[in-house]
Amino acid sequence: MQNLFNLNKKIIVVTGGSGLLGSVICRALANYKATVIVADLNQDAGTELAKSICSDGFSAKYLSIDITSKASINELINSVASEYGGIDVWVNNAYPRTSDWGAKLEDIPIESWNKNVEMHLGGYFLCCQQVAQFMRYREYGNIINFASIYGMVGPDFSVYDGTNMTMPAAYSAIKGGIINFTRYLASYYGKYNVRVNSISPGGIFDNQPESFVKNYSKACVLGRMGMAYELCGPLVFLASDSSSYITGHNLVVDGGWTIV
Ligand SMILES: NC(=O)c1ccc[n+]([C@@H]2O[C@H](COP(=O)([O-])OP(=O)(O)OC[C@H]3O[C@@H](n4cnc5c(N)ncnc54)[C@H](O)[C@@H]3O)[C@@H](O)[C@H]2O)c1
Repeated sequence: MQNLFNLNKKIIVVTGGSGLLGSVICRALANYKATVIVADLNQDAGTELAKSICSDGFSAKYLSIDITSKASINELINSVASEYGGIDVWVNNAYPRTSDWGAKLEDIPIESWNKNVEMHLGGYFLCCQQVAQFMRYREYGNIINFASIYGMVGPDFSVYDGTNMTMPAAYSAIKGGIINFTRYLASYYGKYNVRVNSISPGGIFDNQPESFVKNYSKACVLGRMGMAYELCGPLVFLASDSSSYITGHNLVVDGGWTIV
């Protein structure tokens, strides 16, 4: 039987590729023999990551992208298509947000709400719209959208007790929107052999305040936060042809957070 999770010869674009989750994912996809495009606004981190992946003997390249700009998205698509002949998988993982992200519900100006929805949900829309059109003509493609448990359930605010953290209100609308927009796209593009799935991580450990980590862990079925590397297996699965009969699905990677 062929290697189920082989990504050999696949050209994979990861937006937000140099961030917390993006960098771990880019490395994993490259380890499974994909050619990875680290697509990010952050040039220094993206270039450094691509260099480091290549020095381990794998294939990666940094390209600049601003997911809120149709021109920037198309510039990247055209550049990848002309250098590599196509794009097989596009991972929407970027996380744009305003400087007041994290304000309490009562303190959020409508302009800030709108801006976040526009940049994040709108940015994912633009990327999907542009790359799906391109994939449709090749009659092959695979889009993976990063959503979240907070696009599925309301937050348990008690986990933030004793910290100045909160779960931003717009995140629920953005991530809930991404999950259902994924279903819309899957239905729209199914006949062109373009698959579209979302992945919904739970809280990922990133040196948050101790009390938050403790509270979150207590409320989670597996009794701990997730680690960034725990998204690699699910991501490689969705990116590979092992998931060839899966589309419109929301793959939940949350240690059981949403089942109780
Ligand atoms: N970290 C978590 O606990 C967690 C949990 C659930 C879901 N998620 C989702 O996973 C994804 C990645 O999150 P993360 O924690 O790695 O975020 P992060 O902030 O560490 O990384 C986000 C990356 O996106 C890039 N970016 C921001 N705006 C951009 C734009 N306009 N165009 C292109 N790139 C842009 C940043 O430069 C950064 O490299 C996000 O969609 C997030 O909502 C994260």
